[in-house]
Amino acid sequence: MQKPVFAANWKMHYGPQETRTYLLKFLASYPPHDDRTIIFFPSAASLAVAGFALRDRPDILLGVQNVHWEEKGAFTGETSVLMARDCGATVALVGHSERRQLFGETDEMTARKCATIARAGLTPLLCVGERLDEHERGITQSIVMRQLKTGVSRLEKSQLATVLVAYEPVWAIGTGKTAKPEDATVVHAAIRRYFREALAGQTDSVRVLYGGSVNAENAAELVAAPEIDGLLVGGASLDVDVWTRIVGT
Ligand code: 13P
Repeated sequence: MQKPVFAANWKMHYGPQETRTYLLKFLASYPPHDDRTIIFFPSAASLAVAGFALRDRPDILLGVQNVHWEEKGAFTGETSVLMARDCGATVALVGHSERRQLFGETDEMTARKCATIARAGLTPLLCVGERLDEHERGITQSIVMRQLKTGVSRLEKSQLATVLVAYEPVWAIGTGKTAKPEDATVVHAAIRRYFREALAGQTDSVRVLYGGSVNAENAAELVAAPEIDGLLVGGASLDVDVWTRIVGT
């Protein structure tokens, strides 16, 4: 049985000073655990400070919220995966719905980013999920599978085996509406089936997380659902006490 993953996506919150204060408080109340994996995704501006704060805690991983598909160049305002790695990041979010909806990130861009991230030795955490209108039209699975297949299409098989995926229904993000564990389970099972077929049986290391209005009250039920390997948490991860309760579930 693999360890559950608890990932905190801070989005555009917490600069370096707030990041340091938060992490010092968290670390003081959360001793190392070897039965779960924790990942923090601070903003790019706070990545170096977070890497420094976490330097003595190899049980906690650092991730970057977004990178460019090129490693360097004339891309004003973008973050390079190599810079993120230099700060201590070992994971990178790709294709978050906010990137897709607000910044025009396409499936093809997510594919290029996943390949660049994996080539740099980091783990891509590919986010997939349907919008409300797609949910209501009953086309969740075809949307999610299209995003998934294209997103990982440029990865080699060995890279594919270590990918992280987050199923985040767009209608559940920041809305207080959570997918029912049994509904999320169906989508997670389809994602896992895809990897099982693509990898001919060696799926053990592919982890599928759920995200969308996770909080301290619903975290335990979600993470206990059969196909849910962990949680990707936005708003509720911003409060260090709430986050400490969530990772303690
Ligand atoms: P909320 O937990 O705020 O709904 O956000 C989920 C999310 O987008 C995590 O990536």
